[in-house]
Amino acid sequence: MKVAVMGYGTIGSGVVEILRINRDVVANRAGEALEVTKILDLRDFEGDPVQNLIVHDYREIVDDPEIAIVVETMGGVEPAYTFVKAMLEAGKHVTTSNKALVADKGAELIRIAREHKVNFMFEASVGGGIPIIRPLQSCLTGDVIEEITGIVNGTTNYMMTKMTAEGSEFEDVLKEAQAKGYAEKDPTADIEGYDACRKIAILTSLVSGSQVDYNDIPTEGISHITATDIKYANVMGRAIKLLATSKAYGKTYFCRVAPFLLPPQHPLYNVNDVFNAVFVHGNMLGDGMFYGSGAGKLPTASAVVGDLVAIAKHIDKNIYLEWKEEKLVLANPGQQSYRFFVRSAKSLAEIEKVFSKVECVDAGIAGEIGFVTEEMTQKEYDAKAGELGDIIQMIRLA
Ligand code: HSE
Repeated sequence: MKVAVMGYGTIGSGVVEILRINRDVVANRAGEALEVTKILDLRDFEGDPVQNLIVHDYREIVDDPEIAIVVETMGGVEPAYTFVKAMLEAGKHVTTSNKALVADKGAELIRIAREHKVNFMFEASVGGGIPIIRPLQSCLTGDVIEEITGIVNGTTNYMMTKMTAEGSEFEDVLKEAQAKGYAEKDPTADIEGYDACRKIAILTSLVSGSQVDYNDIPTEGISHITATDIKYANVMGRAIKLLATSKAYGKTYFCRVAPFLLPPQHPLYNVNDVFNAVFVHGNMLGDGMFYGSGAGKLPTASAVVGDLVAIAKHIDKNIYLEWKEEKLVLANPGQQSYRFFVRSAKSLAEIEKVFSKVECVDAGIAGEIGFVTEEMTQKEYDAKAGELGDIIQMIRLA
């Protein structure tokens, strides 16, 4: 079976590598050998064993009747969207690792694939090598999924783990993560939570069956977390982690991406370094956890190759996937309740006047008071925080 790869970067070259190293085992599982015959990239890769497979025009793949499956590992919405759409319309199956594309155009591409009796698969788009998309769309379809909460960004989890272990500042850890190749030169998408936001939008779309607009998800990153916050977290016996959460509320979901303070008994508390994990609560399943390598060349490429095998086994049919184009109206995030950890420069009397009962946290920091509020809605907190003023930091408790 002939395969084309669009984008010979980290993940695309990983797919080619796995198909070479695990050629026989993949062939046995797919029912026949999978052979990469064309690779689309802007570069030439002179001297590379794949040099003769490189093409620069995606239409060379569209017009190649022998190519049955296309791997998209380019990243970004355009031109990936134009290319993927053309492949599906030409009757080629597609698998992608591209979360930006899936979050933005998932429902439409799934419909186009169905209309052309092919498949659009995207296991690698969330959680890297961790199986989470297929479990949600097949194994757990007997359940109403009431909660999905994940650590779905390896870069920020590595950074939070380092800050916790070493008491270091955000900027220093970021530089170190960049030097080690964990964080990109432009780390904005990771550290501001945009990457995690797209991933929880994909997971929520899958379990709700409707299109979640990632722009509707309130998203905070970790760039405002400091070594002082970590000191307070240590006193509380909690760990700060960037969570992407989705909780059922009637027929819709509360979604949020933000740093949270996790207690040791939280299932995600021990997920450290670049690892990812997704906690799922189903109304019949109860609790489930999916844990493993959430980023990186071979783990992510492994998920793509898993899709290739699944596609090869269903080469003549579309596997129905419930993800409609109608937009899911998310629950009002102001109505979601939390306890809030707050650092303020105001006096305890002023704090108690606004928040009534609070639990103080003494981390020995001069000139401020750390406290935890009673449970209240986000809207109530925002009003009280506005009234108090001088808020140095706020982190929600998980
Ligand atoms: N930048 C992402 C991360 C890569 O750090 O998790 C995987 O999507």
